[in-house]
Amino acid sequence: MHFFLDTANLTEIEDALAWGVLSGITTNPTLVSREEGAFEPLVQKICSFMQGNPVSVEVLATTVEGMIDEALRLSALAPNIVVKIPMGVEGLKVVSKLSRGEKKVPCNVTLVFSVNQALLAVRAGASYISPFIGRLDDIGWDGAALVEEMAAVFRCQKIATPIIAASIRHPQHVQRVAAAGAHIATVPYAVLKQLADHPLTNLGMERFLADWSRSRGKTSL
Ligand code: G3P
Repeated sequence: MHFFLDTANLTEIEDALAWGVLSGITTNPTLVSREEGAFEPLVQKICSFMQGNPVSVEVLATTVEGMIDEALRLSALAPNIVVKIPMGVEGLKVVSKLSRGEKKVPCNVTLVFSVNQALLAVRAGASYISPFIGRLDDIGWDGAALVEEMAAVFRCQKIATPIIAASIRHPQHVQRVAAAGAHIATVPYAVLKQLADHPLTNLGMERFLADWSRSRGKTSL
């Protein structure tokens, strides 16, 4: 499973890139609204940091024509832009047009909450499908179970479209979607840091250092 970072924050992206684990970025209007500065230069900067890895940026228009115009403008900003299109009948029309057009624009269909929505998005021509698992948990459902079902249906239908597990809130989500067969988990920076941590790792290191300095009296070799 690949890791994407779910952020529009350049500092977070720069730091996570140095870990060598990032394969892409997803943003949404909420994440972009938290950042300073003009939208397009920010998107271009993120795309240049990511060097050929996909960067999902969402359209804000709600009509088919408006979404297509925005998608074409966004995709002209950098070669690694993936346009995020919200699920729905209008969204499907947009994805169908963009994925079959002269200039094929890769689309990430977002706000997906059911297997049937995912199947339609695949057929319309989506390049990625983004089920939102934390938001299903918020209404008392089991969000990770949706990814389990979706991945099982994709396997039996021989659908290769990558599933991006999104709206991830904690490490347990990551482990469950990986076991389910999600191709990608897009995680907030805080969750990415939690993934690298374990109390016993920290404790283990403290003990090693304490033992070393007791016998050698210094903390480096
Ligand atoms: O990638 C989608 C994600 O940004 C939504 O997360 O926590 O707002 O449901 P959340």
